[in-house]
Amino acid sequence: MPTNKTKNPDDIICGCTGTTKEKVKQLIQSGITDVNDIASKTGATTGCGSCDIDIVAFVENVKDQKNKSNTHTN
Ligand code: FES
Repeated sequence: MPTNKTKNPDDIICGCTGTTKEKVKQLIQSGITDVNDIASKTGATTGCGSCDIDIVAFVENVKDQKNKSNTHTN
């Protein structure tokens, strides 16, 4: 299966601004976990606003994965 790193519609978390999950993930990893800050950096949530809940969930998800990889209990 080819792993083409071009923009895949599935990777876009905010259709209004074309913000990708990868972009949001990079921001989270650089310490930006506030949805308002992510919105001001990417424009995500500033269009129709329907992606707001997806971005909140995505941030939680990425933070959770980060925590899991940082702790070695379980
Ligand atoms: S999909 Fe993000 S603001 Fe519309």
